[in-house]
Amino acid sequence: MKTPLIKELLASPADSRAVAVSGWVRTKRESKNLVFLQVSDGSCFSPIQLAFDRSGAANAALERQLPRVTTGASVRATGRLVPSPAAGQVAEIALETLEVLGEAPADSYPLQKKGHSFEFLRENAHLRARTNTFGAVARVRSQLSFAVHSFFQERGFQYFSAPIITASDAEGAGEMFQVTTLSLEKLAEAGVLAGAKGKRPETAAELVRYEKDFFGRRTSLTVSGQLAGETYAAALSRIYTFGPTFRAENSNTARHIAEFWMIEPEMSFYDLDDDAALAEEFIKYLLNWALDKCAEDMRFFDERIKRELMNSDVSREGNAQVFDARSRRGLIDTLRGVADSPFQRVTYTEAVAELEKNRDSFEFKPFWGCDLQSEHEKYLTEQTYRKPVIVTDYPKEIKAFYMKLNGDGKTVRALDVLVPGLGEIIGGSQREEDCGALLSRMTECGLSPDDYWWYLDLRRFGTVPHSGFGLGFERLLMYVTGMTNIRDVIPYPRAPRQADF
Ligand code: 4AD
Ligand code: MG
Repeated sequence: MKTPLIKELLASPADSRAVAVSGWVRTKRESKNLVFLQVSDGSCFSPIQLAFDRSGAANAALERQLPRVTTGASVRATGRLVPSPAAGQVAEIALETLEVLGEAPADSYPLQKKGHSFEFLRENAHLRARTNTFGAVARVRSQLSFAVHSFFQERGFQYFSAPIITASDAEGAGEMFQVTTLSLEKLAEAGVLAGAKGKRPETAAELVRYEKDFFGRRTSLTVSGQLAGETYAAALSRIYTFGPTFRAENSNTARHIAEFWMIEPEMSFYDLDDDAALAEEFIKYLLNWALDKCAEDMRFFDERIKRELMNSDVSREGNAQVFDARSRRGLIDTLRGVADSPFQRVTYTEAVAELEKNRDSFEFKPFWGCDLQSEHEKYLTEQTYRKPVIVTDYPKEIKAFYMKLNGDGKTVRALDVLVPGLGEIIGGSQREEDCGALLSRMTECGLSPDDYWWYLDLRRFGTVPHSGFGLGFERLLMYVTGMTNIRDVIPYPRAPRQADF
């Protein structure tokens, strides 16, 4: 049953030995004498070519199969691996037998060989990994997942699995999906019934009894594994999480999704500078990994972007201008440049001063205290500094409760890594390790210390300075591949009114 992967065949000598191959037909080309099939199995970007000469008497059996061999059909073939006369491929298979495992009728198979729009492919997300673009995205995603583990394991970090269902809001922003086994319909019925009996419940709590819910309390899907991560960093020194996180923000943008994967390292005895240095080293490591280990897929993305930019009629989704700055040099050269040169470091105060010099460029006028909008992030990375920028020390009002307060009492030891074309890719901070200071920040933020008693315990028992950050894995993939919509770098995107499949 098992046959070698096409990746393995293409990397082996074309020495005319007998081989078998399985995959899905990409294209079929027929001429009077010759038939060429391109078959792909997703193991690498290139398909393998299968060829046979129609005049050969022994090929009648192959000929009979041909009508069923259409784009999308699955096949198993045998033949001889021979050097290919065609340009751009080293080897091909001189076909001997061909078995159609599953047909893909041309009148109903959605992915015919012509190019499809990304919107159309999103509606066919179950098939899109069979296209060049989505196959390449899937392989880069897989490689970079491995790279994440490799980076941290090489540096003595322990992989920590943060809980997915949680009772606390790690960001304190209230953007959580509730997890419950209570039935909305039954609760509504109870309300209607109470009304019919002339009862008037005064509060929702009279109807919604969380003590009867599965966990006996209100719970949600996690927005971040950070707080749990901190508990293990306070024992193992350096940990990282890599798992799904969920945000119920109703932002329908090309950079936000409701379910995304986040990598969150947390380090005891690290200050903000150590944190920033690790973030920069991490991004560079991932870029180099993609350039080295995904060279063929990266060449495809590089060419795709250059082609689209040359043909300006084909407007890129999202913001075409976004990739302009880096695409003048192409994706590969740009990423290589980023991997080889230091990121810019500025404080929030310096960044805002820079933006204020150019007030006229912005729809949202910058001022000290404002949250940086994506137009501001773009300006800093694409106009002012023309490289990734690490912005630190934001006003406390626009950052989460757990960040360490600076001596000025106004700013916190926060860090955002911004990259050209995308904006924020990493958010992190040094954490407030002083119990009293943390309690007063929580009060300011309207959070109840009782809900975070275990988190406060870390500050009561053996507290240490510590820091961490979160890298949105899909944002990283957008940056690496040049894909402009985040829904195209995760297999099954979840967004407002989008949870098909
Ligand atoms: O800046 P955020 O909200 O930081 C945290 O969650 C911290 N707890 C991280 C930490 O210090 N351990 O999110 C971190 C990153 C963002 O920079 C962004 O890359 C990504 O997560 N992100 C999203 N990615 C896709 N869709 C969304 N809705 C995202 N929200 C955040
Ligand atoms: Mg952030």
